[in-house]
Amino acid sequence: MKKLYIQTYGCQMNQHDSERIVQVLGRLDYQPTDSPEHADLILLNTCSVRDKAEQKVYSALGRWRDLKEEKRGLIIGAGGCVAQQEGELLLRRVPHLDLVFGTHNIHKLPEMVEQVETLGARPIELAFYREPSYMEDPGGKPQVHGPRAFVTIMQGCNNVCSFCIVPYVRGRELSRPSRNIIREIRELTRSGVKEVMLLGQNVNSYGKAGSGELTFPELLTRINGIEGLERIRFTTSHPQDLSPELIEAYATLEKLCEHLHLPVQSGSDSVLHRMRRGYTREAYLEKIYRLRERCPNIALSTDIIAGFAGETEAEFAETLAILHQVEYDEIYSFVYSPRPHTAAVKLYRDDVPQEVKKERLAQVQRLQNEISLRKNRQSVGTVEEILVEGPSKLRRGQITGRTRTNKIVNVMGPTMLSGSLTRVRITGASANSLLGELLKVSAMASTLEAGGIA
Ligand code: SAH
Ligand code: SF4
Ligand code: F3S
Repeated sequence: MKKLYIQTYGCQMNQHDSERIVQVLGRLDYQPTDSPEHADLILLNTCSVRDKAEQKVYSALGRWRDLKEEKRGLIIGAGGCVAQQEGELLLRRVPHLDLVFGTHNIHKLPEMVEQVETLGARPIELAFYREPSYMEDPGGKPQVHGPRAFVTIMQGCNNVCSFCIVPYVRGRELSRPSRNIIREIRELTRSGVKEVMLLGQNVNSYGKAGSGELTFPELLTRINGIEGLERIRFTTSHPQDLSPELIEAYATLEKLCEHLHLPVQSGSDSVLHRMRRGYTREAYLEKIYRLRERCPNIALSTDIIAGFAGETEAEFAETLAILHQVEYDEIYSFVYSPRPHTAAVKLYRDDVPQEVKKERLAQVQRLQNEISLRKNRQSVGTVEEILVEGPSKLRRGQITGRTRTNKIVNVMGPTMLSGSLTRVRITGASANSLLGELLKVSAMASTLEAGGIA
């Protein structure tokens, strides 16, 4: 049996790609390991969306040069969004790199690794496909860890956000046929999965291009009918394409969890215009209002970019104001970094000094911390359902799970509850997680239901 070490950075789509890589290389008898020193094959699967993504890849690969010299036959490969972006250049600049695979080429990996093993070749596969079949089961044993699983429903993006490299590294939008998605989820539920996270760069566009023959809300309705499945989540959705039908789905589909990640990026209309986001602050707020009207306890999260090209103090103040106004449960915030190929680098100067960007980011994060803490504290005393994922990393005897609103809850409890839905009373809160206690009676009932007690 050979060992595979895989290092991953990036969004949930990229993490799922790494699971698929482990799955497909299982066909060649590679098993995952946590240490590069023990590996026969090292793969780097990385994100290109921010910062100096390229430099990070070159330095990570540089660190493995000594290993390659020490261990004959060690294979090193690079894939994902940075590999898609850099392509051939990676092979030229890193002499000890054996293979490069793009974002559509995971299914090609076994063939590529064999070419290195048997011929000493340096294969590179970067093709973008126009058919969605590359997203289907690559063979091998699916990687299921616990009660939650990722399921790709579409990939690529047809939007033109001026700051974003994703359309260049993931290609045009393509949707998987709904029957394949439903079959995959049925199989996952048979192996104990209770919650699926539907993945796509812009899930609201499901069905518009490729073989998706349903709209996204129609797909959700079908998935809601799958027996054994308890919870549905999805990420990520663009505010411009958030339809009234999707808002309605939150009111009618009982398995759809009350949480939506809806990246706003900025609270300023002029910045949103330069970002080519296709909505105004008012239009965004109107959608939030409708969502809360139909689903009052929905939790909301968002992405914020601080210091976009040309962002003035007044424009930035509007971002702080929208955080106050919406009161998100959670945000992911970043300083703007210019990315190759994007419209923003061609059109605008990256003129906000780095210190100012960082200070704005810190302000955003300070404000959101206060809001998250306040909101989390409000939930103390309430009863929530959590899906137990397993032992908590924080404390012995503690288990961890998420509420339907996507909040992490740690509770003292037996690990045999892992994989089951359990009711807990919230007893404490920080900005990032909640503390709870098991409700004895319902905990027993769900354990019995899950077959935990004979
Ligand atoms: N498809 C997703 C975005 C994926 S990228 C969506 O539209 O929601 C995830 C986040 O990274 C974006 O929402 C944005 O906040 C951030 N991001 C993207 N490009 C960036 C850049 N050039 N600089 C800083 N942050 C960026
Ligand atoms: Fe990037 Fe915009 Fe597409 Fe999201 S919607 S992946 S931010 S281009
Ligand atoms: Fe990054 Fe690629 Fe995801 S650029 S955000 S890993 S789609």
